[in-house]
Amino acid sequence: MCGIVTAIARRNIVPVLLEGLRKLEYRGYDSAGLAVLKTEGTPQLQRLRAVGRVAELAAQADATGLSAEIGIAHTRWATHGVPSERNAHPHISAGLAVVHNGIIENFEELRSGLQAKGYKFTSETDTEAIAHLLHDKLKSIPDLFDAVRATLAELVGAYAIGVLSETDPNRAIVARKGSPLLLGIGEDGYYAASDTAALLQVTRKVVYLEDGDVAELRLDGYRVTLQDGTPVERAVNISSLSADAVELGKYRHYMQKEIFEQPQALGNTLEMIAGGGGISPQLFGADAVGIFGATRRVLILACGTSYHAGLVARYWIESVAKISCTVEIASEYRYRDSVPDPETLVVVISQSGETADTLAALKFAKSLGMNKTLAICNVPESAIVRETALRFVTRAGPEIGVASTKAFTTQLAALALLTLALAKVNGRLSDEDEAMHLAHLRHLPVAVAKVLELEPEIEGWAQRFASKHHALFLGRGMHYPIALEGALKLKEISYIHAEAYPAGELKHGPLALVDKEMPVIAVAPADSLLEKLKSNLQEVKARGGELYVFADAGSEIPQSEGVHILHMPEHYGLLSPILHVVSLQLLSYHAALVKGTDVDKPRNLAKSVTVE
Ligand code: AGP
Repeated sequence: MCGIVTAIARRNIVPVLLEGLRKLEYRGYDSAGLAVLKTEGTPQLQRLRAVGRVAELAAQADATGLSAEIGIAHTRWATHGVPSERNAHPHISAGLAVVHNGIIENFEELRSGLQAKGYKFTSETDTEAIAHLLHDKLKSIPDLFDAVRATLAELVGAYAIGVLSETDPNRAIVARKGSPLLLGIGEDGYYAASDTAALLQVTRKVVYLEDGDVAELRLDGYRVTLQDGTPVERAVNISSLSADAVELGKYRHYMQKEIFEQPQALGNTLEMIAGGGGISPQLFGADAVGIFGATRRVLILACGTSYHAGLVARYWIESVAKISCTVEIASEYRYRDSVPDPETLVVVISQSGETADTLAALKFAKSLGMNKTLAICNVPESAIVRETALRFVTRAGPEIGVASTKAFTTQLAALALLTLALAKVNGRLSDEDEAMHLAHLRHLPVAVAKVLELEPEIEGWAQRFASKHHALFLGRGMHYPIALEGALKLKEISYIHAEAYPAGELKHGPLALVDKEMPVIAVAPADSLLEKLKSNLQEVKARGGELYVFADAGSEIPQSEGVHILHMPEHYGLLSPILHVVSLQLLSYHAALVKGTDVDKPRNLAKSVTVE
């Protein structure tokens, strides 16, 4: 979602702001803007805004020869008000400029109060209320830093903000609560941004702000306080994120790069079990043995692709660890009456660790007294990771494409480890089974690499059905969530309408949709449900439907008119969903290429969904 970059340095910071915004493009946005302070003579704000890409903003900056030593910049993903130049940030209130990521829930109330005081609003955004409120505060609190703190005290909701003022041109103020923000300590100045990738161009030294922090950036230093003004020290970290990790390299798209990075990402995530030996529950944290031993039920909360990972894990946890498991969409769980159970292990899964609904669902579960919590997340310093008793950080590396790929397979690897740890602590894993499962996990990177070799055939399939308007995905058992994930991938990047069903449900309704215009994609591993699935496929064939079947080494399904079969290199037992999803990722990717859609930045979507 929205991204923020702030800079104050002994150099022209305009290129830094623009490059920072480019690095935040993956978060999803529809407009961009920046404001700088010209400090020669009377300080003066200069603002540029553009609907569409950062490139448009960069062209405006070039054309105007913009240069300055202090500035704030923003990519906006519309929440309040349509994507337009008028609604793009920064928002200005007489000499003050504000950029904001998040949602101010009481903005209507603030807006009416400010309008009553004579403030004129020129946008439909909640952010403009922050700018005018700050302006109003400055009338009674002349110090900018203190006035920002007083303004924040009146905001309800989530924010990361950056502020510049003509009356105080030697510092930029930033703050966060609920939305991510970190500081960068450079050789020639100080910076802030929504994520590290935006700052690697100038520094690796970063300071992660905590919720409620307010910071002042000057040319000669910075300070951080709580919102009430109490000074706080925040650790300086050296980011290990490599600049290459966020570069495209030889690939056409980040999604393609990330699909092909999966063997490496899985290898990194499973590094702790690479050296032989057994599964150690402490992989999840020092208290894992105690917490897992007292776990009678598992509740998994997540959104989107991460929710699908949870659905696969339910099959594993119930069949291997013999612990009852439910999986719920976070945005539903947080608003319903449920029966809290302190013996439940609450597992939240999130690539970004920022997803507002998942974070809120976790906090809600904790408020109900469920304090045995575990985060499976790809971002170690994220809000979600900080909220849980236990954590497992997947090592997928930065995922830039909006469509989640390597984050999903590494989440599944982490959930497989969780299953084994739960089973072991609760005495449900024999030494023999443990060794067998671990051997499979260790071999996973090689097995995934072999699936990637199927790309040319999958590309051929994608060519055939990219012209279709709808598609059905079928799976059974633990491959039903993989069908769901295949359908989600296809719709989000190719805009082909796709639905997934457990194959046994076909004749209870969706079969009515099947004709030659409806490609049906089936996930058909050689498991105990294969014969049942074959009957379901016959039902499709008999109605003239065209079938694309992802079988595997042991699934004997004959190729025939209208039935296309692709065999996965091996049958992979319990971990088979991890192999099958890779082929569906490739299918969506190639369908999107044929359709010419924006693969990495699909319309209307954001990478980090930091609003409800
Ligand atoms: C998947 O391709 C998505 N872009 C989306 O469903 C995503 O998985 C969801 O928004 C949850 O994000 P998270 O894992 O960062 O919490």
